[in-house]
Amino acid sequence: MSNSTDELFKNVISHCKEYGFVFQSSEIYDGLSAVYDYGQNGAELKNNIKTYWWKAMVQLNENIVGLDAAIFMHPKVWEASGHVAGFADPMIDNKDSNKRYRADQLLEDKVTSLMSKAVDDAKTKGIATYYEDGFVPSMPDIAKEQALQDFLFQNEDYKKGYELMGKVNNCLLNDDLPGLRDLIIEYDIKDPISGTANWTDVRQFNLMFSTQMGALAEESDVVYLRPETAQGIFVNYLNVQKSGRMKIPFGIAQIGKAFRNEVIARQFIIRMREFEQMEMQFFVRPGTQKEWFEHWKQARLKWHLALGTSPAKYRFHEHTKLAHYADAAFDIEYEFPFGFKEVEGIHSRTDFDLSQHQKYSGKKLQYFDPEINQNYVPYVIETSIGLDRMFLLTMINAYEEEDLSTEERQDSRVVLRLHPCLAPVKAAIFPLTKKDGLPEKAREIMDKLKVDYNLQYEEKDTIGKRYRRQDAIGTPFCITVDHQTLEDNTVTIRHRDTMEQERVNADDLDKIIGNLVSWRNVL
Ligand code: GAP
Repeated sequence: MSNSTDELFKNVISHCKEYGFVFQSSEIYDGLSAVYDYGQNGAELKNNIKTYWWKAMVQLNENIVGLDAAIFMHPKVWEASGHVAGFADPMIDNKDSNKRYRADQLLEDKVTSLMSKAVDDAKTKGIATYYEDGFVPSMPDIAKEQALQDFLFQNEDYKKGYELMGKVNNCLLNDDLPGLRDLIIEYDIKDPISGTANWTDVRQFNLMFSTQMGALAEESDVVYLRPETAQGIFVNYLNVQKSGRMKIPFGIAQIGKAFRNEVIARQFIIRMREFEQMEMQFFVRPGTQKEWFEHWKQARLKWHLALGTSPAKYRFHEHTKLAHYADAAFDIEYEFPFGFKEVEGIHSRTDFDLSQHQKYSGKKLQYFDPEINQNYVPYVIETSIGLDRMFLLTMINAYEEEDLSTEERQDSRVVLRLHPCLAPVKAAIFPLTKKDGLPEKAREIMDKLKVDYNLQYEEKDTIGKRYRRQDAIGTPFCITVDHQTLEDNTVTIRHRDTMEQERVNADDLDKIIGNLVSWRNVL
Protein backbone atom coordinates (compact mmCIF):
# COMPACT_ATOMS: atom_id res chain seq x y z
CA MET A 1 0.00 0.00 0.00
CA SER A 2 1.24 3.51 -0.78
CA ASN A 3 1.89 5.57 2.33
CA SER A 4 2.65 8.85 0.59
CA THR A 5 1.88 10.59 -2.70
CA ASP A 6 5.52 10.01 -3.72
CA GLU A 7 5.12 6.31 -3.17
CA LEU A 8 1.78 6.31 -4.97
CA PHE A 9 3.38 7.89 -8.03
CA LYS A 10 6.22 5.36 -7.98
CA ASN A 11 3.69 2.54 -7.70
CA VAL A 12 1.71 3.87 -10.68
CA ILE A 13 4.91 3.98 -12.76
CA SER A 14 5.76 0.37 -11.80
CA HIS A 15 2.18 -0.67 -12.52
CA CYS A 16 2.41 0.93 -15.99
CA LYS A 17 5.40 -1.28 -16.74
CA GLU A 18 4.24 -4.48 -15.07
CA TYR A 19 0.87 -4.49 -16.84
CA GLY A 20 1.99 -3.43 -20.33
CA PHE A 21 0.93 0.21 -20.33
CA VAL A 22 4.23 2.14 -20.67
CA PHE A 23 7.83 0.99 -21.23
CA GLN A 24 10.98 3.02 -21.43
CA SER A 25 12.12 3.35 -25.04
CA SER A 26 15.00 1.03 -26.03
CA GLU A 27 15.04 -0.41 -22.52
CA ILE A 28 17.40 -3.27 -23.41
CA TYR A 29 19.99 -0.59 -24.24
CA ASP A 30 19.35 1.13 -20.89
CA GLY A 31 16.69 3.40 -22.33
CA LEU A 32 16.60 6.74 -24.09
CA SER A 33 15.98 9.67 -21.79
CA ALA A 34 12.46 11.17 -21.88
CA VAL A 35 11.26 8.82 -24.64
CA TYR A 36 8.67 6.13 -23.90
CA ASP A 37 6.81 3.32 -25.68
CA TYR A 38 3.22 2.31 -25.03
CA GLY A 39 2.63 -1.40 -24.46
CA GLN A 40 -0.34 -3.59 -25.36
CA ASN A 41 -2.71 -2.06 -22.81
CA GLY A 42 -1.25 1.44 -23.07
CA ALA A 43 -1.80 1.52 -26.84
CA GLU A 44 -5.48 0.57 -26.35
CA LEU A 45 -6.00 3.15 -23.59
CA LYS A 46 -4.29 5.83 -25.67
CA ASN A 47 -6.46 5.00 -28.69
CA ASN A 48 -9.59 5.22 -26.54
CA ILE A 49 -8.58 8.65 -25.22
CA LYS A 50 -8.01 9.77 -28.83
CA THR A 51 -11.42 8.43 -29.85
CA TYR A 52 -13.07 10.27 -26.95
CA TRP A 53 -11.42 13.52 -28.01
CA TRP A 54 -12.08 13.04 -31.74
CA LYS A 55 -15.74 12.25 -31.21
CA ALA A 56 -16.22 15.23 -28.86
CA MET A 57 -14.43 17.67 -31.15
CA VAL A 58 -15.05 16.46 -34.72
CA GLN A 59 -17.97 14.05 -34.78
CA LEU A 60 -20.23 16.11 -32.52
CA ASN A 61 -19.45 19.52 -34.02
CA GLU A 62 -20.71 20.04 -37.55
CA ASN A 63 -18.35 22.98 -37.98
CA ILE A 64 -15.16 21.15 -36.95
CA VAL A 65 -13.32 18.84 -39.34
CA GLY A 66 -10.20 16.70 -38.96
CA LEU A 67 -6.77 16.85 -40.55
CA ASP A 68 -3.66 14.67 -40.63
CA ALA A 69 -0.72 16.86 -41.67
CA ALA A 70 2.86 15.65 -42.17
CA ILE A 71 5.43 15.99 -39.40
CA PHE A 72 7.97 17.56 -41.77
CA MET A 73 7.07 21.02 -42.98
CA HIS A 74 8.80 23.66 -45.07
CA PRO A 75 11.52 25.29 -42.87
CA LYS A 76 9.99 28.71 -43.53
CA VAL A 77 6.92 27.61 -41.53
CA TRP A 78 9.00 27.75 -38.35
CA GLU A 79 10.52 31.12 -39.21
CA ALA A 80 7.04 32.53 -39.83
CA SER A 81 5.60 30.99 -36.66
CA GLY A 82 8.37 32.52 -34.54
CA HIS A 83 9.71 29.16 -33.37
CA VAL A 84 13.19 29.58 -34.92
CA ALA A 85 13.72 32.87 -33.09
CA GLY A 86 11.64 32.44 -29.98
CA PHE A 87 10.94 28.82 -29.00
CA ALA A 88 13.65 28.59 -26.40
CA ASP A 89 14.28 28.10 -22.70
CA PRO A 90 16.79 30.26 -20.75
CA MET A 91 19.65 27.91 -19.82
CA ILE A 92 22.66 28.35 -17.56
CA ASP A 93 25.67 26.02 -17.12
CA ASN A 94 27.70 25.43 -14.01
CA LYS A 95 31.39 25.58 -15.02
CA ASP A 96 32.50 23.13 -12.32
CA SER A 97 29.96 20.33 -12.78
CA ASN A 98 29.34 21.05 -16.50
CA LYS A 99 25.64 20.55 -15.77
CA ARG A 100 23.00 22.63 -17.54
CA TYR A 101 19.91 24.02 -15.82
CA ARG A 102 16.89 26.09 -16.74
CA ALA A 103 17.66 29.47 -15.18
CA ASP A 104 14.00 30.25 -14.46
CA GLN A 105 13.55 26.88 -12.73
CA LEU A 106 16.58 27.40 -10.49
CA LEU A 107 15.02 30.69 -9.42
CA GLU A 108 11.54 29.21 -9.01
CA ASP A 109 13.01 26.48 -6.77
CA LYS A 110 14.60 29.24 -4.69
CA VAL A 111 11.24 31.02 -4.43
CA THR A 112 9.59 27.79 -3.27
CA SER A 113 12.28 27.12 -0.68
CA LEU A 114 12.03 30.69 0.68
CA MET A 115 8.26 30.45 0.95
CA SER A 116 7.92 26.86 2.09
CA LYS A 117 8.49 27.33 5.84
CA ALA A 118 5.71 29.92 6.11
CA VAL A 119 3.38 27.81 3.96
CA ASP A 120 4.09 24.69 6.05
CA ASP A 121 3.48 26.65 9.26
CA ALA A 122 0.18 27.90 7.84
CA LYS A 123 -0.79 24.32 7.03
CA THR A 124 0.18 23.07 10.50
CA LYS A 125 -1.79 25.86 12.16
CA GLY A 126 -4.83 25.03 10.01
CA ILE A 127 -4.83 28.41 8.26
CA ALA A 128 -4.03 26.92 4.89
CA THR A 129 -5.86 23.61 5.03
CA TYR A 130 -7.88 24.57 1.98
CA TYR A 131 -4.70 25.25 0.04
CA GLU A 132 -3.77 23.16 -2.96
CA ASP A 133 -0.22 23.00 -4.24
CA GLY A 134 1.05 25.85 -2.09
CA PHE A 135 -0.07 29.09 -3.56
CA VAL A 136 -3.28 29.28 -5.54
CA PRO A 137 -6.54 28.00 -4.06
CA SER A 138 -8.92 26.63 -6.70
CA MET A 139 -11.92 28.23 -5.01
CA PRO A 140 -10.70 31.32 -3.18
CA ASP A 141 -12.51 32.33 -0.03
CA ILE A 142 -11.79 36.04 0.38
CA ALA A 143 -11.75 36.14 4.21
CA LYS A 144 -9.61 33.02 4.55
CA GLU A 145 -7.35 34.25 1.77
CA GLN A 146 -6.77 37.56 3.60
CA ALA A 147 -6.04 35.79 6.90
CA LEU A 148 -3.57 33.55 5.14
CA GLN A 149 -1.83 36.41 3.33
CA ASP A 150 -1.52 38.31 6.64
CA PHE A 151 0.01 35.25 8.26
CA LEU A 152 2.44 34.50 5.41
CA PHE A 153 3.70 38.06 5.07
CA GLN A 154 4.79 38.11 8.71
CA ASN A 155 7.56 35.76 7.65
CA GLU A 156 10.68 37.56 6.31
CA ASP A 157 11.74 34.70 4.04
CA TYR A 158 8.27 34.48 2.55
CA LYS A 159 8.45 38.20 1.75
CA LYS A 160 11.86 37.69 0.11
CA GLY A 161 10.46 34.80 -1.96
CA TYR A 162 7.51 36.90 -3.04
CA GLU A 163 9.80 39.75 -4.12
CA LEU A 164 12.04 37.34 -6.00
CA MET A 165 9.05 35.86 -7.81
CA GLY A 166 8.14 39.37 -9.04
CA LYS A 167 11.69 40.02 -10.24
CA VAL A 168 11.89 36.68 -12.08
CA ASN A 169 8.56 37.33 -13.84
CA ASN A 170 9.81 40.75 -14.85
CA CYS A 171 12.99 39.34 -16.40
CA LEU A 172 11.01 36.65 -18.24
CA LEU A 173 8.51 39.15 -19.58
CA ASN A 174 11.33 41.38 -20.87
CA ASP A 175 13.58 38.53 -22.10
CA ASP A 176 16.21 39.92 -19.73
CA LEU A 177 18.76 37.06 -19.67
CA PRO A 178 21.57 38.98 -17.86
CA GLY A 179 18.91 39.96 -15.29
CA LEU A 180 18.15 36.28 -14.63
CA ARG A 181 21.85 35.58 -14.09
CA ASP A 182 22.18 38.58 -11.75
CA LEU A 183 19.31 37.16 -9.65
CA ILE A 184 20.98 33.73 -9.50
CA ILE A 185 24.15 35.40 -8.16
CA GLU A 186 22.31 37.83 -5.86
CA TYR A 187 20.31 35.05 -4.20
CA ASP A 188 23.43 32.87 -3.92
CA ILE A 189 21.98 29.94 -5.84
CA LYS A 190 24.47 27.09 -6.00
CA ASP A 191 24.66 24.09 -8.29
CA PRO A 192 23.32 21.12 -6.27
CA ILE A 193 26.06 18.90 -7.74
CA SER A 194 29.25 21.00 -7.51
CA GLY A 195 27.99 23.20 -4.69
CA THR A 196 29.51 26.26 -6.40
CA ALA A 197 28.06 29.42 -7.92
CA ASN A 198 30.50 29.38 -10.86
CA TRP A 199 27.85 30.08 -13.53
CA THR A 200 28.06 30.88 -17.25
CA ASP A 201 25.87 33.53 -18.86
CA VAL A 202 22.23 32.65 -19.42
CA ARG A 203 21.60 31.66 -23.04
CA GLN A 204 18.47 30.81 -24.96
CA PHE A 205 18.41 27.15 -25.99
CA ASN A 206 16.09 26.35 -28.91
CA LEU A 207 13.88 23.34 -28.28
CA MET A 208 13.37 22.28 -31.89
CA PHE A 209 15.03 19.14 -33.24
CA SER A 210 16.51 19.60 -36.69
CA THR A 211 17.62 17.15 -39.33
CA GLN A 212 18.57 17.19 -43.01
CA MET A 213 16.29 16.40 -45.89
CA GLY A 214 17.87 14.83 -48.96
CA ALA A 215 21.44 13.72 -49.45
CA LEU A 216 23.36 16.96 -49.05
CA ALA A 217 23.90 18.43 -45.64
CA GLU A 218 23.54 22.03 -46.72
CA GLU A 219 22.05 24.80 -44.67
CA SER A 220 19.02 25.09 -46.95
CA ASP A 221 18.16 21.39 -46.46
CA VAL A 222 17.57 21.74 -42.71
CA VAL A 223 14.11 20.63 -41.67
CA TYR A 224 12.63 20.54 -38.18
CA LEU A 225 10.59 17.95 -36.38
CA ARG A 226 7.43 19.90 -35.55
CA PRO A 227 7.32 21.16 -31.95
CA GLU A 228 3.52 21.57 -32.15
CA THR A 229 0.91 20.14 -34.53
CA ALA A 230 -0.87 23.50 -34.85
CA GLN A 231 1.24 24.83 -37.76
CA GLY A 232 0.05 21.94 -39.98
CA ILE A 233 -3.46 23.30 -39.40
CA PHE A 234 -2.56 26.93 -40.11
CA VAL A 235 -0.84 26.22 -43.44
CA ASN A 236 -3.82 24.09 -44.53
CA TYR A 237 -6.50 26.47 -43.30
CA LEU A 238 -7.42 27.76 -46.76
CA ASN A 239 -7.26 24.28 -48.37
CA VAL A 240 -9.74 22.96 -45.82
CA GLN A 241 -11.95 26.07 -45.88
CA LYS A 242 -12.25 26.00 -49.67
CA SER A 243 -12.49 22.23 -50.24
CA GLY A 244 -14.91 21.80 -47.32
CA ARG A 245 -16.86 25.03 -48.05
CA MET A 246 -16.44 25.92 -44.39
CA LYS A 247 -18.02 29.07 -43.02
CA ILE A 248 -16.57 31.01 -40.10
CA PRO A 249 -16.70 30.14 -37.25
CA PHE A 250 -15.19 26.73 -37.98
CA GLY A 251 -12.48 24.50 -36.56
CA ILE A 252 -9.80 22.08 -37.72
CA ALA A 253 -8.72 19.31 -35.35
CA GLN A 254 -5.66 17.11 -35.45
CA ILE A 255 -3.95 14.42 -33.39
CA GLY A 256 -0.26 13.85 -33.95
CA LYS A 257 3.29 13.62 -32.72
CA ALA A 258 5.31 16.65 -31.65
CA PHE A 259 8.98 16.83 -30.69
CA ARG A 260 10.83 19.08 -28.27
CA ASN A 261 14.43 18.80 -27.16
CA GLU A 262 13.48 19.31 -23.52
CA VAL A 263 16.64 19.94 -21.54
CA ILE A 264 15.15 18.86 -18.30
CA ALA A 265 12.96 15.84 -18.69
CA ARG A 266 11.07 14.94 -15.54
CA GLN A 267 8.18 13.15 -14.01
CA PHE A 268 7.80 10.17 -16.29
CA ILE A 269 5.58 10.96 -19.31
CA ILE A 270 4.83 14.54 -18.20
CA ARG A 271 7.79 16.03 -20.07
CA MET A 272 8.90 13.96 -23.03
CA ARG A 273 11.05 14.65 -26.08
CA GLU A 274 8.60 12.87 -28.38
CA PHE A 275 4.95 13.23 -27.41
CA GLU A 276 1.50 13.49 -28.88
CA GLN A 277 -0.87 16.45 -29.02
CA MET A 278 -4.58 16.75 -29.74
CA GLU A 279 -5.07 20.27 -31.04
CA MET A 280 -7.97 22.21 -32.49
CA GLN A 281 -7.77 25.64 -34.10
CA PHE A 282 -11.09 27.47 -34.16
CA PHE A 283 -11.23 30.27 -36.77
CA VAL A 284 -13.43 33.20 -35.78
CA ARG A 285 -14.39 36.69 -36.91
CA PRO A 286 -12.07 39.34 -35.37
CA GLY A 287 -13.79 40.91 -32.37
CA THR A 288 -15.55 37.67 -31.35
CA GLN A 289 -12.46 35.96 -29.94
CA LYS A 290 -13.23 36.72 -26.27
CA GLU A 291 -16.60 34.95 -26.29
CA TRP A 292 -15.19 31.95 -28.20
CA PHE A 293 -12.26 31.79 -25.80
CA GLU A 294 -14.70 31.56 -22.88
CA HIS A 295 -16.80 28.99 -24.77
CA TRP A 296 -13.84 26.68 -25.38
CA LYS A 297 -12.49 27.06 -21.84
CA GLN A 298 -15.77 25.77 -20.44
CA ALA A 299 -16.32 23.14 -23.16
CA ARG A 300 -12.90 21.64 -22.61
CA LEU A 301 -13.26 21.49 -18.82
CA LYS A 302 -16.64 19.77 -19.30
CA TRP A 303 -14.93 17.17 -21.51
CA HIS A 304 -12.48 16.36 -18.70
CA LEU A 305 -15.15 16.21 -16.01
CA ALA A 306 -17.50 13.97 -18.03
CA LEU A 307 -15.15 11.06 -17.29
CA GLY A 308 -16.18 11.31 -13.65
CA THR A 309 -13.00 12.90 -12.27
CA SER A 310 -13.60 15.02 -9.17
CA PRO A 311 -13.80 18.75 -10.07
CA ALA A 312 -11.55 19.44 -7.04
CA LYS A 313 -8.72 17.77 -8.98
CA TYR A 314 -8.89 20.41 -11.70
CA ARG A 315 -8.25 24.13 -11.81
CA PHE A 316 -7.66 26.86 -14.37
CA HIS A 317 -4.38 28.72 -14.35
CA GLU A 318 -4.07 32.02 -16.18
CA HIS A 319 -0.76 32.73 -17.94
CA THR A 320 1.05 35.89 -16.96
CA LYS A 321 3.92 35.36 -19.40
CA LEU A 322 2.17 34.80 -22.73
CA ALA A 323 3.70 32.84 -25.61
CA HIS A 324 4.81 34.98 -28.54
CA TYR A 325 1.55 34.34 -30.43
CA ALA A 326 -1.09 34.70 -27.69
CA ASP A 327 -3.21 37.56 -26.31
CA ALA A 328 -4.82 35.38 -23.61
CA ALA A 329 -4.08 31.91 -22.32
CA PHE A 330 -5.40 29.59 -19.63
CA ASP A 331 -4.15 26.17 -18.67
CA ILE A 332 -6.37 23.39 -17.42
CA GLU A 333 -4.33 21.88 -14.61
CA TYR A 334 -4.77 18.55 -12.84
CA GLU A 335 -3.53 17.71 -9.38
CA PHE A 336 -0.90 15.03 -9.95
CA PRO A 337 0.78 13.45 -6.89
CA PHE A 338 3.61 15.97 -7.37
CA GLY A 339 1.28 19.00 -7.55
CA PHE A 340 -0.92 20.78 -10.07
CA LYS A 341 0.45 20.54 -13.64
CA GLU A 342 -0.79 21.72 -17.02
CA VAL A 343 -2.65 19.14 -19.08
CA GLU A 344 -4.26 21.38 -21.65
CA GLY A 345 -3.85 24.94 -22.89
CA ILE A 346 -6.59 27.21 -24.25
CA HIS A 347 -4.97 30.00 -26.20
CA SER A 348 -6.29 33.06 -27.97
CA ARG A 349 -3.73 33.23 -30.80
CA THR A 350 -5.16 36.35 -32.50
CA ASP A 351 -4.41 36.48 -36.27
CA PHE A 352 -0.68 36.11 -35.51
CA ASP A 353 -0.02 32.77 -37.23
CA LEU A 354 -2.13 33.30 -40.35
CA SER A 355 -0.78 36.84 -40.81
CA GLN A 356 2.78 35.60 -40.45
CA HIS A 357 2.23 32.80 -42.99
CA GLN A 358 0.63 35.33 -45.33
CA LYS A 359 3.72 37.52 -44.99
CA TYR A 360 6.32 34.76 -45.35
CA SER A 361 4.59 32.82 -48.16
CA GLY A 362 3.30 35.82 -50.09
CA LYS A 363 -0.08 34.00 -50.41
CA LYS A 364 -3.33 35.62 -49.31
CA LEU A 365 -4.89 33.77 -46.39
CA GLN A 366 -7.99 35.92 -46.04
CA TYR A 367 -11.56 34.83 -45.67
CA PHE A 368 -14.48 36.56 -47.35
CA ASP A 369 -17.30 36.83 -44.81
CA PRO A 370 -20.58 37.07 -46.76
CA GLU A 371 -22.52 38.09 -43.65
CA ILE A 372 -20.63 41.36 -43.26
CA ASN A 373 -19.35 41.58 -46.85
CA GLN A 374 -15.71 41.85 -45.71
CA ASN A 375 -12.36 40.16 -46.22
CA TYR A 376 -10.26 39.51 -43.14
CA VAL A 377 -7.61 37.24 -41.66
CA PRO A 378 -9.51 35.17 -39.06
CA TYR A 379 -8.62 35.15 -35.37
CA VAL A 380 -7.91 31.80 -33.78
CA ILE A 381 -8.80 30.12 -30.50
CA GLU A 382 -6.70 27.03 -29.90
CA THR A 383 -7.33 24.09 -27.60
CA SER A 384 -4.20 22.00 -27.14
CA ILE A 385 -4.09 18.92 -24.93
CA GLY A 386 -1.12 16.64 -24.39
CA LEU A 387 -2.25 13.07 -24.98
CA ASP A 388 0.51 11.60 -22.81
CA ARG A 389 -0.35 13.89 -19.89
CA MET A 390 -4.02 12.95 -20.30
CA PHE A 391 -2.93 9.30 -20.27
CA LEU A 392 -0.97 9.74 -17.02
CA LEU A 393 -3.82 11.70 -15.44
CA THR A 394 -6.20 8.87 -16.37
CA MET A 395 -3.93 6.21 -14.89
CA ILE A 396 -3.32 8.11 -11.66
CA ASN A 397 -6.98 8.94 -11.25
CA ALA A 398 -8.00 5.32 -11.83
CA TYR A 399 -5.31 3.59 -9.75
CA GLU A 400 -6.46 2.33 -6.38
CA GLU A 401 -4.91 -0.02 -3.86
CA GLU A 402 -8.01 -1.40 -2.19
CA ASP A 403 -7.93 -3.13 1.17
CA LEU A 404 -10.36 -6.07 1.08
CA SER A 405 -9.37 -7.59 4.42
CA THR A 406 -12.02 -9.19 6.56
CA GLU A 407 -11.82 -10.40 10.16
CA GLU A 408 -10.92 -13.84 8.86
CA ARG A 409 -8.21 -12.92 6.36
CA GLN A 410 -6.03 -10.20 4.94
CA ASP A 411 -6.68 -9.33 1.30
CA SER A 412 -6.15 -6.49 -1.12
CA ARG A 413 -6.28 -5.72 -4.80
CA VAL A 414 -4.97 -3.11 -7.20
CA VAL A 415 -7.83 -1.94 -9.33
CA LEU A 416 -7.84 0.54 -12.21
CA ARG A 417 -11.21 2.25 -12.00
CA LEU A 418 -11.06 3.41 -15.60
CA HIS A 419 -14.22 4.67 -17.20
CA PRO A 420 -15.54 1.64 -19.17
CA CYS A 421 -15.32 3.69 -22.40
CA LEU A 422 -11.57 4.09 -21.87
CA ALA A 423 -10.78 0.58 -20.56
CA PRO A 424 -8.27 -1.24 -22.81
CA VAL A 425 -10.15 -4.54 -22.50
CA LYS A 426 -13.94 -4.28 -22.29
CA ALA A 427 -14.59 -7.79 -20.99
CA ALA A 428 -12.69 -10.96 -20.13
CA ILE A 429 -14.19 -14.38 -20.80
CA PHE A 430 -13.30 -17.27 -18.49
CA PRO A 431 -14.31 -20.92 -18.71
CA LEU A 432 -14.61 -22.09 -15.08
CA THR A 433 -12.46 -25.14 -15.88
CA LYS A 434 -10.40 -26.28 -18.85
CA LYS A 435 -12.62 -29.31 -19.53
CA ASP A 436 -16.22 -30.52 -20.04
CA GLY A 437 -16.67 -28.37 -23.15
CA LEU A 438 -16.48 -25.10 -21.17
CA PRO A 439 -13.54 -23.62 -23.16
CA GLU A 440 -15.40 -24.32 -26.43
CA LYS A 441 -18.55 -22.62 -25.13
CA ALA A 442 -16.52 -19.65 -23.85
CA ARG A 443 -14.82 -19.29 -27.25
CA GLU A 444 -18.18 -19.46 -29.00
CA ILE A 445 -19.46 -16.55 -26.85
CA MET A 446 -16.25 -14.62 -27.41
CA ASP A 447 -16.38 -15.05 -31.20
CA LYS A 448 -19.83 -13.44 -31.29
CA LEU A 449 -18.66 -10.38 -29.33
CA LYS A 450 -15.08 -9.77 -30.42
CA VAL A 451 -15.89 -7.82 -33.59
CA ASP A 452 -17.41 -5.05 -31.49
CA TYR A 453 -15.35 -5.18 -28.30
CA ASN A 454 -11.73 -5.76 -27.35
CA LEU A 455 -11.93 -8.95 -25.26
CA GLN A 456 -9.53 -11.28 -23.49
CA TYR A 457 -9.86 -15.02 -23.07
CA GLU A 458 -8.24 -16.58 -20.00
CA GLU A 459 -8.40 -20.14 -18.68
CA LYS A 460 -5.24 -20.31 -16.55
CA ASP A 461 -5.30 -20.09 -12.71
CA THR A 462 -8.24 -19.80 -10.33
CA ILE A 463 -11.12 -17.48 -11.14
CA GLY A 464 -10.01 -15.25 -8.21
CA LYS A 465 -6.53 -14.78 -9.70
CA ARG A 466 -8.01 -14.10 -13.13
CA TYR A 467 -10.30 -11.44 -11.60
CA ARG A 468 -7.31 -9.74 -9.98
CA ARG A 469 -5.35 -9.65 -13.24
CA GLN A 470 -8.28 -8.02 -15.03
CA ASP A 471 -8.88 -5.56 -12.16
CA ALA A 472 -5.26 -4.46 -12.52
CA ILE A 473 -5.77 -3.46 -16.17
CA GLY A 474 -9.20 -1.94 -15.56
CA THR A 475 -11.40 -4.50 -17.36
CA PRO A 476 -14.96 -3.53 -16.35
CA PHE A 477 -16.56 -6.98 -16.78
CA CYS A 478 -15.51 -10.60 -16.33
CA ILE A 479 -17.78 -13.25 -17.81
CA THR A 480 -17.59 -16.77 -16.46
CA VAL A 481 -18.85 -19.78 -18.37
CA ASP A 482 -19.72 -22.71 -16.08
CA HIS A 483 -21.61 -26.00 -16.22
CA GLN A 484 -24.96 -24.24 -15.93
CA THR A 485 -24.11 -22.32 -19.12
CA LEU A 486 -24.17 -25.61 -21.04
CA GLU A 487 -27.69 -26.27 -19.74
CA ASP A 488 -29.44 -22.89 -19.96
CA ASN A 489 -27.02 -20.57 -21.86
CA THR A 490 -26.59 -18.27 -18.84
CA VAL A 491 -23.24 -16.88 -17.62
CA THR A 492 -22.11 -14.85 -14.63
CA ILE A 493 -21.00 -11.31 -15.23
CA ARG A 494 -18.81 -9.82 -12.49
CA HIS A 495 -18.52 -6.04 -12.20
CA ARG A 496 -15.02 -4.66 -11.54
CA ASP A 497 -15.93 -1.81 -9.19
CA THR A 498 -18.51 -3.45 -6.96
CA MET A 499 -17.19 -7.02 -7.45
CA GLU A 500 -20.85 -8.04 -7.58
CA GLN A 501 -21.95 -10.86 -9.84
CA GLU A 502 -25.18 -11.43 -11.70
CA ARG A 503 -26.43 -14.27 -13.84
CA VAL A 504 -27.50 -13.23 -17.32
CA ASN A 505 -28.36 -14.89 -20.61
CA ALA A 506 -25.33 -15.10 -22.89
CA ASP A 507 -27.44 -13.72 -25.75
CA ASP A 508 -27.92 -10.48 -23.78
CA LEU A 509 -24.18 -9.85 -23.28
CA ASP A 510 -23.89 -7.74 -26.42
CA LYS A 511 -26.57 -5.36 -25.18
CA ILE A 512 -25.30 -5.29 -21.58
CA ILE A 513 -21.68 -4.57 -22.50
CA GLY A 514 -22.75 -2.24 -25.31
CA ASN A 515 -24.80 -0.09 -22.93
CA LEU A 516 -22.06 0.16 -20.33
CA VAL A 517 -19.22 1.02 -22.70
CA SER A 518 -21.25 3.28 -25.00
CA TRP A 519 -19.73 6.69 -25.76
CA ARG A 520 -23.20 8.07 -25.05
CA ASN A 521 -22.34 7.75 -21.36
CA VAL A 522 -19.73 10.51 -21.67
CA LEU A 523 -20.69 12.51 -24.74
N1 GAP B 1 0.10 24.61 -29.93
C1 GAP B 1 0.22 25.11 -28.61
C2 GAP B 1 1.13 24.33 -27.78
O1 GAP B 1 1.85 23.47 -28.25
P1 GAP B 1 1.91 24.00 -25.31
O2 GAP B 1 1.34 24.56 -24.04
O3 GAP B 1 3.36 24.20 -25.57
O4 GAP B 1 1.05 24.66 -26.47
C3 GAP B 1 0.26 21.98 -25.33
O5 GAP B 1 1.59 22.45 -25.39
C4 GAP B 1 0.17 20.74 -24.48
O6 GAP B 1 1.10 19.76 -24.96
C5 GAP B 1 0.52 20.95 -23.02
O7 GAP B 1 -0.60 21.37 -22.28
C6 GAP B 1 0.99 19.57 -22.59
O8 GAP B 1 -0.11 18.78 -22.19
C7 GAP B 1 1.58 19.00 -23.86
N2 GAP B 1 3.06 19.06 -23.84
C8 GAP B 1 3.85 20.12 -24.09
N3 GAP B 1 5.14 19.79 -23.98
C9 GAP B 1 5.18 18.49 -23.65
C10 GAP B 1 6.24 17.55 -23.40
N4 GAP B 1 7.51 17.89 -23.50
N5 GAP B 1 5.90 16.27 -23.06
C11 GAP B 1 4.61 15.90 -22.97
N6 GAP B 1 3.57 16.73 -23.21
C12 GAP B 1 3.85 18.01 -23.54
